[in-house]
Amino acid sequence: MQKLPRRFFQPLAAGAPEPYRELPVRIERMIHFVPPHNEKVRAKLPELIGQVDVLLGNLEDAIPADAKIEARRGFIALAKANDFGATGLWTRINALNSPWMLDDLLEVVGEVGDKLDVVMLPKVEGPWDIHYVDQLLAQLEARHGVKKPILVHAILETAEGVKNVEEIAAASPRMHGMSLGPADLAASRGMKTTRVGGGHPEYKIVADPAEGGGGRASAQQDLWHYTIARMVDACLANGLKAFYGPFGDFSDPLACEVQFRNAFLMGCAGAWSLHPSQIAIAKKVFAPDPAEVAFAKRILEAMPDGTGAVMLDGKMQDDATWKQARVIVDLATQIARKDPAQAALYGL
Ligand code: GLV
Ligand code: MG
Repeated sequence: MQKLPRRFFQPLAAGAPEPYRELPVRIERMIHFVPPHNEKVRAKLPELIGQVDVLLGNLEDAIPADAKIEARRGFIALAKANDFGATGLWTRINALNSPWMLDDLLEVVGEVGDKLDVVMLPKVEGPWDIHYVDQLLAQLEARHGVKKPILVHAILETAEGVKNVEEIAAASPRMHGMSLGPADLAASRGMKTTRVGGGHPEYKIVADPAEGGGGRASAQQDLWHYTIARMVDACLANGLKAFYGPFGDFSDPLACEVQFRNAFLMGCAGAWSLHPSQIAIAKKVFAPDPAEVAFAKRILEAMPDGTGAVMLDGKMQDDATWKQARVIVDLATQIARKDPAQAALYGL
């Protein structure tokens, strides 16, 4: 059962801000993870904030159990101590069934609710998880006088979550988007890989035997294609953004770049950066190719009202390719506004 459309956009608590009808337009090429309990990391934030699109204080996995409270306090401290400008401030809270999640939200929203853009919620299984957090956030926003709605970003990282991906995406106007969580998802599904994202040398196809023998070509396949496709469709059908999540092998930047780019080409807006070296990879990947932008601009110029059919370099263009060009040029324009280096590449 879904709510009536009129009620869908009503605040869930008296005094909570109105939910957004459309997501704020923001470039989010990378969601950069930091461990907030680490004082050295916190000290370097003033330099880092301007280099990333989103800074996320991680409270969940990778934070040791005995540092959970310190991480939460560290996040509140870093949120208070810094001016984030155009950079998004997110936190990944602990899972709903953990002993920390309730205080994560109570304390973080209570202390820095007005600075917080997005709460990333791990291990989301179905719309019921979103409804719970939606209601609780509304109560906290009302209690603390938070002026703009705090959005929710779900990690898609359980078999049940993937099964329910459409319902999760449609659960609330508070939804910002979703990220693929390949490590937890692999475990939940019984996949046989110990890697965090990326391919696996044994997940491949092999060419038929050639007549007369000889070597047989083989190529690795993308283990994540199916899930990313489902996530992108569920998100974009609901006006949300889809993200590739973590790529754990910091020693293999090429594989990281290729995995990120597959996600970008399939419709994702960004990925996580878990290591500073992945920030530059994400900036390079999650921006359209300048040659593609130049061609897309030619399509728009050739079809000023977006209708009809024209030929460009032997390639048929019509209303649909005009829309494809619009996607590329709009994204390039938004990136150019934020990133002068990229603006120069695009001539925008
Ligand atoms: C991320 O949280 C993952 O499990 O891959
Ligand atoms: Mg996970």
